[in-house]
Amino acid sequence: MAVNNITPEVSWRSFDFRSEPLTELRSMYELTYGAKVDESVWEWKYVKNPDVGGIRMIVAVADKRIVGATTRMPADILVNNEVRKAYFNVDSMVHPDFRRLGIMQSLYGYTASMMPIQYSKGTNPGMYGLLKKIGYRDVLPNTFMVKYLSIPKLLLNKIRVYSARTGAPPEVRDDCGEKGFIRAERFGPEFDEFRSRVSPGFGGVPVKDSERMNWRYNAIPHRQYHVFYRKKGGRIVSVVVMRIKEVSGSIVDILWDRAEGDEPQSTIRFCAGFLKSSGALKITCWATLDDLRACLRRNGFIDNNETPRFSVFAPNGMDVFANGGKIHFVEGDGDSEYL
Ligand SMILES: CC(C)(COP(=O)(O)OP(=O)(O)OC[C@H]1O[C@@H](n2cnc3c(N)ncnc32)[C@H](O)[C@@H]1OP(=O)(O)O)[C@@H](O)C(=O)NCCC(=O)NCCS
Repeated sequence: MAVNNITPEVSWRSFDFRSEPLTELRSMYELTYGAKVDESVWEWKYVKNPDVGGIRMIVAVADKRIVGATTRMPADILVNNEVRKAYFNVDSMVHPDFRRLGIMQSLYGYTASMMPIQYSKGTNPGMYGLLKKIGYRDVLPNTFMVKYLSIPKLLLNKIRVYSARTGAPPEVRDDCGEKGFIRAERFGPEFDEFRSRVSPGFGGVPVKDSERMNWRYNAIPHRQYHVFYRKKGGRIVSVVVMRIKEVSGSIVDILWDRAEGDEPQSTIRFCAGFLKSSGALKITCWATLDDLRACLRRNGFIDNNETPRFSVFAPNGMDVFANGGKIHFVEGDGDSEYL
């Protein structure tokens, strides 16, 4: 077991969440976030994660008890046709009695030496301050783009005069309608063929195969997503994942064939139509790629200047990995923990 002294009383070590008791972690989580760990979400996020063997959890120990923890989720990125091992930082917490002692800074220092590319998103001001202090850089551009479908109804909704329509969202014909959009229930080999074909067309893009997509969007216990493929000549040319929460719609994930001249515009327009007819009054898309942002702008989205504080630590390639305009990061349903 690797041990590093931070103060005479505090040390850190890796934690095997598959075999060690979770009681201490759970009570620290409750103290930190004021709520019990949702067992079904934990099971999905950690145990059923397709990369479960690659997840790294590090804990800080004082007087034989756990007083801090942070986790690194594998999140590989294809950059210039080379798969780069990257991680996403999640579930960082320090016991309230042990804060501002440098514990989290030390845990991040340890993982920085082991993992050359680490991303963080959605962190609170304290955590963001820590990231800046230890050399994380903002990934830019990283603001949310929003399209307002009906500002009067949105205002009425705010004062509770208007409420979202209830019931199932509209069914899209599964006969490859005008633009060829069909609902997809599960990701499979057809998606993998598409992803391998189109990914090299992007300067950089996170690696997400069908197994990962099924885990992220279909197996998730606390969210419901709507997935559509657009097909042409029997082959997929774009894939989009959307979510609707009351009057807010979001484009959560989108990937398209850059050889298709009318993409991603056709898919964005399809999303706007689908979400509007499902009751959405506004649509959000968080995305970094220059082309996608330009296309969103052409289609009525405006930059609302709010950022999820997306940042990266990659000492041997800061300029590459912080260049969001060239790497296609997209995720927009409020989850801060996944790319
Ligand atoms: C955020 C958190 C993990 C920080 O852990 P910590 O061990 O207290 O942090 P450290 O002592 O290593 O702080 C290192 C630096 O980070 C910054 N920092 C940490 N907490 C801060 C806070 N609350 N406000 C402002 N800056 C803060 C400071 O620059 C600090 O250096 P300093 O103490 O010399 O000023 C801890 O406060 C926590 O568990 N908060 C609740 C859970 C949470 O918000 N987790 C992050 C969600 S993504």
